[in-house]
Amino acid sequence: MAFFEKTIACGLVNKSLVGKEVTLVGWVNKRRDLGKLIFIDLRDREGLMQVIFSSEFSEPAHELAHSLRPEFVIQVTGKVVERVGDINKDMPTGALELQATSLEILNESKPLPFSLTSADEIDEELRLKYRYLDLRRPEMQKKLALRNKVIFAMRKFLISEGFYEVETPILSRYTVEGAREFLVPSRVHKKCVYSLPQSPQIFKQILMGSGVEKYFQVARCFRDEALRADRQPEFTQLDLEMSFAKDGDIRSIIEKLLTFVFEKVFTTKLKTPFNSIAYDDAMFNYGSDKPDVRFELKIRDFTSCFKNTEVKFLKSVLESEGKIGGICVKDHNFSRSALDKWTKQAQEFGAKGLLWIKFSEDGKFESPIAKFLPANFFDLAKNICPELKMGETLFLMAGEYVDTWGLLGRLRLDLAKELNLIPANTSAWLWVTDFPLFELDKETGKWNPVHHPFTTPAKGWENLAPGQMKAIAYDLVLNGVEIGGGSVRIHKPELQAKVFDLLGLNKQQMEEIFGFFLAVQESGLPPHAGIGLGLDRLLMLLTNSPSIREVIAFPKTLKGYDLMTGSPTSIPEEKLEMYGLKFVPEKK
Ligand code: AMO
Repeated sequence: MAFFEKTIACGLVNKSLVGKEVTLVGWVNKRRDLGKLIFIDLRDREGLMQVIFSSEFSEPAHELAHSLRPEFVIQVTGKVVERVGDINKDMPTGALELQATSLEILNESKPLPFSLTSADEIDEELRLKYRYLDLRRPEMQKKLALRNKVIFAMRKFLISEGFYEVETPILSRYTVEGAREFLVPSRVHKKCVYSLPQSPQIFKQILMGSGVEKYFQVARCFRDEALRADRQPEFTQLDLEMSFAKDGDIRSIIEKLLTFVFEKVFTTKLKTPFNSIAYDDAMFNYGSDKPDVRFELKIRDFTSCFKNTEVKFLKSVLESEGKIGGICVKDHNFSRSALDKWTKQAQEFGAKGLLWIKFSEDGKFESPIAKFLPANFFDLAKNICPELKMGETLFLMAGEYVDTWGLLGRLRLDLAKELNLIPANTSAWLWVTDFPLFELDKETGKWNPVHHPFTTPAKGWENLAPGQMKAIAYDLVLNGVEIGGGSVRIHKPELQAKVFDLLGLNKQQMEEIFGFFLAVQESGLPPHAGIGLGLDRLLMLLTNSPSIREVIAFPKTLKGYDLMTGSPTSIPEEKLEMYGLKFVPEKK
């Protein structure tokens, strides 16, 4: 038997091969040894095929098959036959089996640290430590295959639209782009570092200055920030940029791209154009800049209903120009203990408190502040929320607008999840536009860019305070997850200098950090705009995965460890010296 002979993938054996001799290679998924008959499920990335060993077909193969164990790699030749009786409807090859006439063990495997057939219940750390085994599981193979298909479709679409794929440096220059960067010391250039790119932002803008016109890249990005289910220290973006393009052009090309991908990969049609909402409206109605609009449950401003309130803490909130926001939950009768539970839950995620008012069918209401509410409170509330009905419950929070609405946004999501208000199998794509240009860093009192410092301010910015300025920037949101962000860029050096100035960079710092880029802006940089899509996040949603770790071949844990290779590692003193480095004790 030739060593690597293979007729077809295990999972693709089909009826047309019945009666024929085939050779398969793969891993032993499962073995049932009944003595005279030995059954194995042979697995490769396409699926499973049942192989049967009996001395009737070949004594040496049958003899050797007694020694097979899970994850042994084998090559087996035999005749494909239709199964008699026990057809397995869950397996595409379930009506067939292979009667083995020869067997070769290509490699053995030690007993596994976990069973590959029940890995969903296995601790994630164990799965990550043995990622090579975890990835063998059909669920993970499907995710790798889908990722490959999606990226292939994206490339196909963009290249057919005239985009060039251009690789940009990984070892690059330290700039200020928002998150913290990873720094890379160099043995050759002591006391200097490279910086890993948070995204190819500056390089893709420079490529516009170089006349590329339409650029894209499946780009690796690196950010040294606190990790979450949808955040990894290194992740992948579909990054693109277009010269002579306005914000609408970018949104339109992304909608076309996603429509193409969905048609090719899922044979479903996306409804375009996607809805869009201005940032201020998103914050006001949903308490989030990435609202999940698959369900309503909007936040309303009930401040006016409490104009003359005698409730002390509400009074003090109103005196300090705070607001009272609320969410009205329809068609649900909360028990007293459920209301207490929601109050506790809100406190756990940072709310000072949660007020509830339950309107009963007879027009009365129950609430911890019932005796302070005017008799016509239902009518007052109905003015704010016209769909409010007797029998429904209103949840209220009071405080400073931004924080309170943020907490109400969190409550909105928790309520929707627990009360099953999110319709199954629906997707809501949404553009969020008109972002603020800057946000105030409360600790340093400095303005930071909401996107990055190369974002064009919206018209009229010259006459506004920094906190009031808007950006020509857009985020793409899918089911409440930020999938992408982009903007129209600044292409003129004078405007760029003004923005750096507002960010508190003096002339020398500007020159030092961004001089090379200002030079590009001074040398005929065309108007341009672009976007970066978080590929891992998109795939997480497309595969219904709980985290982006599930769609990345070799992710890090939430604490940033790679458990398989054991990185990051400490390094020996000699090596530190070679790089001219010295670790100093951490400051308390
Ligand atoms: P932004 O910082 O918004 O924009 O990033 C674009 C998208 O990348 C994804 N993303 C992440 N995914 C996983 N882990 C992370 N740590 C992480 N951080 C971001 C998100 C996000 O929407 N250069 C700009 C794009 C541009 O303006 O063209 C940028 O990087 O899905």
